[in-house]
Amino acid sequence: MIPTHSSMRILVTGRDGQVGWELQRILPTLGTVTAVNREEMNLESPDSIRSCIRAIQPSLIVNAAAYTAVDKAESEPALAQSINADAVAVIAEEAKKIGAAVIHYSTDYVLDGAKPTPYVEEDRTHPLGVYGKTKLAGEQALTDAGIPYLTLRTSWVYGARGRNFLRTILKLATEKPELRIVADQTGAPTWSRDIASATAAVAERWLSGDKEEHSGIYHLVAAGETTWHGFAAEALRQWVALHPENAGNCARLIAISTAEYPTPAARPKNSRLDCAKLARVFDVRLPDWRISLASVLQEIE
Ligand SMILES: NC(=O)c1ccc[n+]([C@@H]2O[C@H](COP(=O)([O-])OP(=O)(O)OC[C@H]3O[C@@H](n4cnc5c(N)ncnc54)[C@H](OP(=O)(O)O)[C@@H]3O)[C@@H](O)[C@H]2O)c1
Repeated sequence: MIPTHSSMRILVTGRDGQVGWELQRILPTLGTVTAVNREEMNLESPDSIRSCIRAIQPSLIVNAAAYTAVDKAESEPALAQSINADAVAVIAEEAKKIGAAVIHYSTDYVLDGAKPTPYVEEDRTHPLGVYGKTKLAGEQALTDAGIPYLTLRTSWVYGARGRNFLRTILKLATEKPELRIVADQTGAPTWSRDIASATAAVAERWLSGDKEEHSGIYHLVAAGETTWHGFAAEALRQWVALHPENAGNCARLIAISTAEYPTPAARPKNSRLDCAKLARVFDVRLPDWRISLASVLQEIE
């Protein structure tokens, strides 16, 4: 029996990551949170995972840690596999022993992007690269574990801190006269804080209902859609509106194709994820990406 609210012990991994950072701030509304970093729980080490979970005895584990270097993964497949897949299997195994539930995150990169319309959870997976393959293996390990679980697939995560596209664009826009940005990949930029808030809302409803019945994979991305070029253009437009003094010192954006910007890992052309299932089961919806972008820009100096 999973206790609820103040009596619940929650373990959050990936404390210093974009999503983990926000989770450790938001989840205390649901219980006592222990958020760990790589030193306290190293996902490369099954022993480290086991001893951390056994010491904390959580009733809910939220796994926000992952190997997220998409291009580097192409040359480090074993490391990506151990963090994104093998570690998830160990977390699930330990969760089963102590009757804990697990919330985990996955990615649009488990899909190949060939579908012309937004993906639903039942659509066929077909990752294009190592990162996507290892994240898919993590999804499968959790699905197969026989425990209450939620896998929340998200996309294009950004925020005021951490390594992300928005912060890179804002920096480069003041350093370069023009920026060439891919304009033929479509998706939804999703604020790390929106992911954490939605996770808290979903967890509360899930844990107080039928956990087994509602276990599964859910898409969780911002409303609306754009391209990387559209995201950069809107970010710079809002940035200049907030800081008119930067108007004359802002790079010109040039729309390019994926073929003009080759990367070690292929990206899905269509990353759009349909979130109707999350809305139907948990009544949770994320704001439009432009609204959240405005909130994030307020937090960036
Ligand atoms: N970023 C995106 O655009 C994106 C898109 C779709 C889905 N997702 C998924 O969303 C989740 C959260 O992503 P994020 O953007 O918050 O990632 P992030 O900012 O890269 O953070 C990942 C965290 O995992 C930690 N980590 C990496 N290797 C570890 C290890 N061996 N042991 C323990 N911790 C380790 C990192 O620790 P250090 O700080 O020590 O490196 C970091 O704190 C992940 O499951 C990711 O796959 C992300």
